[in-house]
Amino acid sequence: MVGKGFRVLSEATRTQDEHKAFGGVVPELAARAHIRLLPRLAELSLGRAGVSWRDLDGIAATLGPGLPGALMVGVVFAKTAAQALKLPFVGVNHLEGHIFSALLTQRIEPPFLALIASGGHTDLVQVKALGHYRVLARTRDDAVGECFDKVARILGLGYPGGPQIERLARDGNPDFHEFPVPRMEELGFSYSGLKTSFLYYTIRQGPGFVAEHLPHICASFQKAAFRQLIEVCSRGIELTGVRKLAVVGGVSVNSALREMFLTEFGEGVFFPDPRYSTDNGAMIAGAGLFRLENGFHSPMSVGVYPNWEL
Ligand code: KG4
Ligand code: ZN
Repeated sequence: MVGKGFRVLSEATRTQDEHKAFGGVVPELAARAHIRLLPRLAELSLGRAGVSWRDLDGIAATLGPGLPGALMVGVVFAKTAAQALKLPFVGVNHLEGHIFSALLTQRIEPPFLALIASGGHTDLVQVKALGHYRVLARTRDDAVGECFDKVARILGLGYPGGPQIERLARDGNPDFHEFPVPRMEELGFSYSGLKTSFLYYTIRQGPGFVAEHLPHICASFQKAAFRQLIEVCSRGIELTGVRKLAVVGGVSVNSALREMFLTEFGEGVFFPDPRYSTDNGAMIAGAGLFRLENGFHSPMSVGVYPNWEL
């Protein structure tokens, strides 16, 4: 299927607004909401595609990484459906799903590099072939999306922080203030320094100044956050000689990020369709289909792997 490319027949996503009041995802609430929403979303997606459960060739769900309770709901739902329909069940790594998000709407022939920029991960991965990965760089502290969420919290904006900061930054001058971009010996990311420097900057300047210059401050923060991603990707390209780069994960929806990467890497850079940047079922189905067509499925006894890395 990958040789021929993918065609997404339908997709259904539901953002859980119940976490907003808490300023972050509450694991117990997430698991409960999954139980309530998952059957309806699956029916909705089948209905939109005009197919029935009987038309399926397999069922995929993510085994990790992620919150154990939410993962368990998805895996038990998918395994139960697979068993009832006598179909194979395919357990998928969530990060591999993000890599496949870029392949749902375009062809990118490996080898290529993939930057996974999400709320839990900042990984630069060498995709030697689909299913064959080498992690070149990880974050040694916070993920880039997590940094957006923490900075948004400092500013008293809602959760998740990324979309709010992007919206405010649209009218801002990215050169208003220079936040630090770390330069490390080893290939890797670090976002806790940027968060701390942002916190001290806002304390130093005071709430009046921050409110008055909010768009400029957000734009300057974004620039530093993305500059680091670009520098590590450039070094990864130099190191491997691989010149194609897919940028995926929730942060890759950001239009300022897309612009900066396009300016830096030109036609060597690829993005998912924006609707597949943030977490979605289509990318898990894509990775699951690839695995299924290559003769792989999971035993019914398989569990979840909350800390599963690529
Ligand atoms: O991939 P994702 O949906 O979930 C994880 O696997 O973590 O990524 C979520 C992250 C959050 O940290 C969120 O703040 C960030 O992606 N994000 C953004 C934007 N939209 C979501 N960051 C920057 N700009 C955005 N527009
Ligand atoms: Zn994700």
